[in-house]
Amino acid sequence: MVLSKAISATRRPRNAARNLWSWLYNIALTAAAKRSHLPGSNLSVRTEAIAQIEAHRLEKSLSATDWQPGRGQKARADLDKVLAAQEVPSEARKRLLAVAAAFDAGEVASSPAPGAYWIDRGQRALDDPDEFFTSRRSVRELGVAPTREQIERAVGLARSAPSVCNRQAARVHATVDLDLITAALLLQNGNAGFGDRISCLMAVTSDRAAFPLPHEMNQTWIDGSLFAMTLVWAFHSTGISTCCLNWAASPTADAKPQNLWSIPRSEAVVMLVAAGLPDWPVKVAGSSRRSVAEVLSFVQSSVVP
Ligand SMILES: Cc1cc2nc3c(=O)[nH]c(=O)nc-3n(C[C@H](O)[C@H](O)[C@H](O)COP(=O)(O)O)c2cc1C
Repeated sequence: MVLSKAISATRRPRNAARNLWSWLYNIALTAAAKRSHLPGSNLSVRTEAIAQIEAHRLEKSLSATDWQPGRGQKARADLDKVLAAQEVPSEARKRLLAVAAAFDAGEVASSPAPGAYWIDRGQRALDDPDEFFTSRRSVRELGVAPTREQIERAVGLARSAPSVCNRQAARVHATVDLDLITAALLLQNGNAGFGDRISCLMAVTSDRAAFPLPHEMNQTWIDGSLFAMTLVWAFHSTGISTCCLNWAASPTADAKPQNLWSIPRSEAVVMLVAAGLPDWPVKVAGSSRRSVAEVLSFVQSSVVP
């Protein structure tokens, strides 16, 4: 007890220095990504994000029940300004112009389309939501790797993840190359005892350059995490098991797999996800959950209307 207190007292300044170092590292990378100063980063990611903010304002405006022609003209003009001033990747430009065209026409489609569209009713309830949700567990002995098609299918489904202003900054870098997997796992601190049996590893990243506005730095991690979670559910929905692996790496460790895996430095590694088709049955860690009462509280207003 005395020893552990003494150790933690001596570690405190060192840990504070490390936290500060990680924090400064993130700030520096975010600033550099915004200015396109990082290898592999691209100013057009930033411009696309700004154009996407305007295009999304148009979509939201058009989808309002009481939308009237003439509304949203400021965002419409701003979108034109951004598109005229700077380069946007051609695929993105097409998507943005399709939104603008639907907005100009004031057309609301009856099936998925750029701009806005009607849906008759929401998602049908799953027959057994408990079965779907409680059957996903982190599997660590993952067996054979999913095929390229299975990975593409899961990533395709994961694109349904929400993202701020629909900026879709998350990316997935997948590999079945055992050397690349080993190189990344050597720097990861949670795969002892099973890392050598991982045959497919993905780095879920989020492009810092897509969050250029003030106060948006954390959005990189929020959007990336939402995508990663959706990816895990997508694999689960197609019968493929996964295990998330934290990427709480030091700044020095953070850079290494990015270079090895050729991940642009403007992208932040949010987490790693291992996937596979286990040799059933497998044992999983219990990971019991908190009760609903521990998680949920209803907030009641003390303000009398
Ligand atoms: C961001 C994140 C990082 C994780 N990192 C690790 C890890 O490094 N090693 C590991 O064995 N499990 C890791 N896990 C898995 C958790 O241990 C697991 O999700 C949790 O215990 C709940 O269990 P379940 O996924 O089986 O429901 C991670 C999960 C998340 C969401």
